[in-house]
Amino acid sequence: MSTTSYRIAVIPGDGIGREVTPVAQAALEKAASGRADFTYEDFDLGAERYLRDGAILPDEDLERIKATDAILLGAVGDPRVKAGVLERGLLLKLRFSLDQYVNLRPSKLYRGVTSPLADPGRIDFVVVREGTEGLYCGAGGAIRRDTVDEVATEVSINTAYGVERVVRYAFELAMKRRRHVTLVHKKNVLVNAGDMWQRIVDRVAREFPEVSHDYQHIDAATIFMVSDPSRFDVILTDNLFGDILTDEAGAVVGGVGYSASGCINAAGTYPSMFEPIHGSAPDIAGKGVANPTAAILSSAMLLRHLGLDDCADRIDRAVEEDIAQSGSSRRSTTQIGRDILSRF
Ligand code: IPM
Ligand code: MN
Repeated sequence: MSTTSYRIAVIPGDGIGREVTPVAQAALEKAASGRADFTYEDFDLGAERYLRDGAILPDEDLERIKATDAILLGAVGDPRVKAGVLERGLLLKLRFSLDQYVNLRPSKLYRGVTSPLADPGRIDFVVVREGTEGLYCGAGGAIRRDTVDEVATEVSINTAYGVERVVRYAFELAMKRRRHVTLVHKKNVLVNAGDMWQRIVDRVAREFPEVSHDYQHIDAATIFMVSDPSRFDVILTDNLFGDILTDEAGAVVGGVGYSASGCINAAGTYPSMFEPIHGSAPDIAGKGVANPTAAILSSAMLLRHLGLDDCADRIDRAVEEDIAQSGSSRRSTTQIGRDILSRF
């Protein structure tokens, strides 16, 4: 077996992001030992940095991040900073500047986890959320602010190029899974964008005769997610619908504590970024009680992205065993990390 070297950008960010990221890094290191060498470059970005010197994502940092092979991100957000500043200026700026057009969010109900659903069945699906277009582009504006004549707009941008590449990713992913893609949109109302998404899906689907596909309106999809989630394999949707649906997905599999995600530049032109779905949780930050499982699972996604599937499997297996055995016990961040790592 050969050893390859990779440079990893580490952005712990805020709150519990700073506690779970070192554990995720330790998991990465141990799972890949003998297979890959990692050098880490730490980035002081997030609320603390912003409050200290006003910097959010300096160009110089962005350039250094661009030169790495992958990014491990903790969490971003702090009640002392106005909503939108770090979300747009750091997280979304990274996703957009690094052209991370696939927001990949797997949901799996692990053995040992209690779902809020009475009869959850087998839940194992992946949401492929478009990551660089839609209502997240920042196209829009406001005039006559704070007057009765105020006008505010947010425009959803959908390009044939941007839609086709994420559709293609979803079908390729489905080939490695249970071979079913569900397009989720709102084409009965959003007749321009929805119709384009549907036509592109139908066209790309012809290249994948083994993959079946269907369609659901977003409102209906939120019902099926709680009434019959095992019907889903790959869910393909736009940026905002995907944002909402993946929070619901996190809830049906027992909370976002077990959900990891990847912001993926599948073309490989810039590094991809891996992060737990949960936020910075300021209420429990600094207490050493945050569950690092989702962050550890994002390390596995990072490894798989680099082609180190066997190392990623190691993490996934250890996490599955740990949850099955001790999922419901109260443990500290470091204890959960130790327990999982000892199973490799
Ligand atoms: C997420 C988050 C972000 C999003 C916010 C923080 C910008 O909710 O990763 O799902 O809306 O994409
Ligand atoms: Mn979200």
